[in-house]
Amino acid sequence: MAFAKNYAFFVLILFPCSLHVVHALNYAMFSSGDGNFKLHWTYSNNKLLFNMTCKATGWCAVGFTENPGGRGMVNYDIAAGGVDGNTSYLEDYWSNTTGQPPKDAVNNFQLVEAMEMGGYTSVKFERNLTTGEANLDVQFTMNTEVYIVWAMHPTDDADPTASNLSPYHGNTNRGRTTNKRNLIAEAMAAAMTPTTTTMMMPFTSLVSTPQPTDPNDNDSLTTQVE
Ligand code: HEM
Repeated sequence: MAFAKNYAFFVLILFPCSLHVVHALNYAMFSSGDGNFKLHWTYSNNKLLFNMTCKATGWCAVGFTENPGGRGMVNYDIAAGGVDGNTSYLEDYWSNTTGQPPKDAVNNFQLVEAMEMGGYTSVKFERNLTTGEANLDVQFTMNTEVYIVWAMHPTDDADPTASNLSPYHGNTNRGRTTNKRNLIAEAMAAAMTPTTTTMMMPFTSLVSTPQPTDPNDNDSLTTQVE
């Protein structure tokens, strides 16, 4: 009888829960601190793998720039994507100034998957560290430090076939880190931290569950969202 009770407890309570037990991957992380933008990334086989999440049902974008100060959309290497109806998209842009960035001739970002759920858009993608297009893509080496920049359109998707990204994010739905970050070093440090087992839904945890304080997330409190 006791066995039957224990077994019932496992089947009814523990087994359904165990479906959602995942080993939290040791991704490096940046968060805008206001819940509007989050970037997780890891590094493997000369690639950076990203998962960006925006509080938006329109386009969601992250950019990287080595330009001093990271201001004014100067030399931003941008990945912008989302889900439009049933279609996921992700394109590669390069901006030199504030305005609609032109699309690169070659898309060096590989879309893995994109989802829209509960008012959030999440896009997983990867990129080779180097692309051979130094004038249109940041070339990542072990020493490369970049400002992380982001932007989104709360409701409108981009047209991935257009030669420029639009529509304009508006003067609030964008931001940049105040410090440069070494993405590869942070990914390697995150990968070294002991793996913990966590109860979580993989997608919703990125967008709605309060995240534990991340020692690498130095910019959360000082992010510019002017
Ligand atoms: C969709 C086409 C875009 C247009 C038309 C556009 C236009 C502008 C304009 C006019 C400004 C100056 C006014 C303001 O501060 O809002 C600006 C600033 C900014 N944009 Fe964009 N933008 C676009 C896409 C993007 C993307 C894709 C990103 C990042 C991934 C981005 C990141 C930023 C940032 C971080 C600033 C503030 C720069 C600073 O602090 O000096 N923009 N943008």
